[in-house]
Amino acid sequence: MIRKAVPSDKPYVLKFCKYTFSWGDYIQDVWDYWLLDGTLLVAQKTIPVGIIHGVFFKNQVWIEGIRIDSKFRRQGLASKMIKKIELMAKEKLIPFSYMLIDSENKPSLSMAKKLNYKIFQSWNFYTLSAKKTSNYHVSVGNVIFENQFLHYVKSWRWIPLDNDQSDLLASKNKIIYSGKDRKTIAILSDSEHFKNTLIATIFAGSQNSTKNIILYLQNFGKKNNYHRLQILTRENLPKVKGLELKISFHLMQKVLS
Ligand SMILES: CC(C)(COP(=O)(O)OP(=O)(O)OC[C@H]1O[C@@H](n2cnc3c(N)ncnc32)[C@H](O)[C@@H]1OP(=O)(O)O)[C@@H](O)C(=O)NCCC(=O)NCCS
Repeated sequence: MIRKAVPSDKPYVLKFCKYTFSWGDYIQDVWDYWLLDGTLLVAQKTIPVGIIHGVFFKNQVWIEGIRIDSKFRRQGLASKMIKKIELMAKEKLIPFSYMLIDSENKPSLSMAKKLNYKIFQSWNFYTLSAKKTSNYHVSVGNVIFENQFLHYVKSWRWIPLDNDQSDLLASKNKIIYSGKDRKTIAILSDSEHFKNTLIATIFAGSQNSTKNIILYLQNFGKKNNYHRLQILTRENLPKVKGLELKISFHLMQKVLS
C-alpha cells in the first residue's frame, strides 16, 4: 500500500534511513518539513518500508528522498511510488518531472532510466570554507538570463529560473555577478532545512571572474557567520584554496505529457 505519510511513521522511517549512504542520511533533518510541504508518501507493508517526497511547481514536479528499506528492495516499490507522484503531477497538467541522482548511484540511475528518465544535465557539488578575503570585484543586481531552461538551486531543489524568479531574487540582492559581460553569476539562497548554510548556484564564465565570485562568497560566508558554504555548478571551477569538489550529480528529467 502507498499512502500519505503521517507523523507516527517517523521512527519506522528513520530506522531504515539511518545508514542509507556511506555518510548516513539526511531524512531525520527534513522529515518534519517534508510532512508539511509537498507530498510525502510512504510504502507500507506491515510497517512503513519506503518513502518518497514530491514538490509540485507550475512547470515541474521535483522528486526527492526516495528510500526503500534494504530488506524490501527490488520489489518495484520505488517505481510504484515514483509513478504515483508522476500521476499526481499529470493530473495537475505539470509537463516535467525531475530528480537528482549521485552520478555513482548505479541502482538509482538504472531505476530512473527504466522509468524513462534521461540525463538532462550534470552538476558538480563543491564545498567552500568561509574566510576573510579582499580584492574581489563583484556587483549585486539583476542579469538577463538568455537561456529559458535554466535552474537555480534552492534547498537542494532545482527551481526554474524564469524572469519573475530572477526579478524576485534580484530584489532580495541574491544575484551576484562578475565580469564586464556579466557572464559569471552566483545565485544565493539560504537552506530552509539546515541552519547557517548558504547554497550558491554558479554559472561560471572566465576563470578570473569565477575566482572573483568565489572569493566574494568566502568573505560573505565569514561576515555572515555561515557554517557551511555549498556550491552547485555545471562547470569545473578554478583551483581556489578552501574550495573542494565533493561529488557530481545527474539532473534527471522525464517529459510527462
Ligand atoms: C534506489 C532504490 C530507491 C530503488 O528502490 P527499489 O524499490 O529497490 O527499486 P525498484 O524495485 O522499483 O527497481 C526498479 C528497477 O530499477 C533497477 N534497479 C533497482 N535497484 C537496482 C540495483 N541494486 N542494481 C541494478 N538495478 C537496480 C532495476 O532495473 C529495477 O528493475 P528490476 O528489479 O525489474 O530489474 C533503493 O535501492 C534505495 O532505497 N536505495 C538507497 C537510497 C537511494 O539511493 N535513493 C535514491 C536517491 S536518488
